[in-house]
Formats: sequence, structure tokens, C-alpha cells
Amino acid sequence: MAQETPHDATPNPSQPDAYAGAAIYSKLLLAIYDLYVLRFSMSWIWRCPRRNITAQYRRNVGDRHLDIGVGTGYFLKKAQVDKRSSEIHLLDLNPVPLARASRRVAGHPTKTYEANALEEFPIPEGSLDSVAMSLFLHCVPGDFTQKGVIFDHINRVLRPGGRFFGTTVLAHGVPITSQARRLMAAYQGKGLFNNAGDSLSDLRNELAKRFDDFTLTTRGCVALFEGTAK
Ligand SMILES: C[S@@+](CC[C@H](N)C(=O)[O-])C[C@H]1O[C@@H](n2cnc3c(N)ncnc32)[C@H](O)[C@@H]1O
Repeated sequence: MAQETPHDATPNPSQPDAYAGAAIYSKLLLAIYDLYVLRFSMSWIWRCPRRNITAQYRRNVGDRHLDIGVGTGYFLKKAQVDKRSSEIHLLDLNPVPLARASRRVAGHPTKTYEANALEEFPIPEGSLDSVAMSLFLHCVPGDFTQKGVIFDHINRVLRPGGRFFGTTVLAHGVPITSQARRLMAAYQGKGLFNNAGDSLSDLRNELAKRFDDFTLTTRGCVALFEGTAK
């Protein structure tokens, strides 16, 4: 297994603001993440059961795959990315999720990058067949015009015709229950979510600026998008 960066136990943020959305993913949080976030919150709070994301992976994953913002790597295993892809690339600002997700696909050719997705990825241009960003953009600081630069970085590393896909919890333009609204505000207060200004229309604009071929749908207060690189 190739490792681009060692797994250091101490995070070394290059951008403190961006790091705030990643630092919370400690070993303790990751220990409850699959059950609390993916099983409970996705179904009962954000109202988008996790099977929607598994299906998105199964539709789009290609031979050389990059996951951005890896968490526990649950969907990599659930969607059998290790059987569908010959190369798996994992990029995250926090080394703790990188180590956890790597273990999920242990034994498979995997490269890890401890890097900020807001900066150009340390991956050669046009070298990948698919890029996933599941439950990720709502962690990243800034409005969608600032987060949109991540789509530029994805476009650069995908081969023409390569697939990108992802999901994000929105704060505007989607139905949000009062319970979801309260939890979202609490997460925003703790810096766990950076989505106070995130709207469906702004996300659509950022996708449309860069891609001719994409779909954007919603389920509960989660946006699901996927498309093809030019
Ligand atoms: C909510 S978790 C998503 C985990 C996984 N993709 C899933 O669907 O379960 C967000 C992940 O994004 C990472 N992250 C947050 N901000 C980041 C950034 N600016 N660059 C790279 N990774 C980041 C966090 O460390 C964490 O692993």
C-alpha cells in the first residue's frame, strides 16, 4: 500500500479556518459516526437514508477513485469500492479519518493525502476516473462561491468523461424540520457544520459554471449531485 503522507497523530493545519471543519473528527467521534450520523441522523434528522449515498457510489465509482473528506470510509466498504476500483485515493485535512478510512480498505492499493480540499490536490491532472465528496461541503467554511473552487480541483484531476458525485446538508431551498433546524444551528455554533449560507440555488450555480452534464436532486435537506467532467 502506498502512503503519500505519514499518519501523524497531531493535526498540522495549514489553514486554521478550513481546519475547524475537520478537527472535530477525533477517534472518539469516528467511533460513533457510523451509528449516530450515518444510521440515525441521516434517516431521522436530515431525512436522507444512507442507502441513497451507497447507491450514488455504486452508480459512479470508476477504476481510479478519489474520496475527499473520508470520515470512517463507511461508503467505501459498503459500496465495495475496493472491488470496483484498482486504485483508491483518500484526501482529508485530518489524519485521524485518513487512518480510519484506510483501514476500511486495508490490503487494497491506496494512497492517502493529508491536504485541504480548498487547495489544488497533490494529484496529477486527468489521472482519475471518479471523485466522491459525500457529506462534505457542509463542513467546509465559506459560501458556495468559495467552496466552488473544490469543483475546479476535481475537474483538473478527473479525466474527460470521469464522474464526480457527492452529498451535502443544505440550510436553504430544501425542506427542513424544526428538529433538523435546531440541530443544524447547534452544529453551526460548534463549527461542526459551516453551511449557514448554503442554498440549493447557489450550489446549482456553482455546478452549472463548471459542468454541462450534472444532476442535482434533494432528499430531505440533503442535496445529491453527480456529473461528468468535460
Ligand atoms: C462529515 S465527514 C464525511 C465523511 C464521509 N465522506 C461520509 O460520507 O461519511 C467530513 C470529512 O471531511 C473532512 N474535511 C473537512 N474539511 C476538509 C477540508 N477543507 N479538506 C479536506 N477534508 C476536510 C473531515 O476531516 C471529515 O473526515
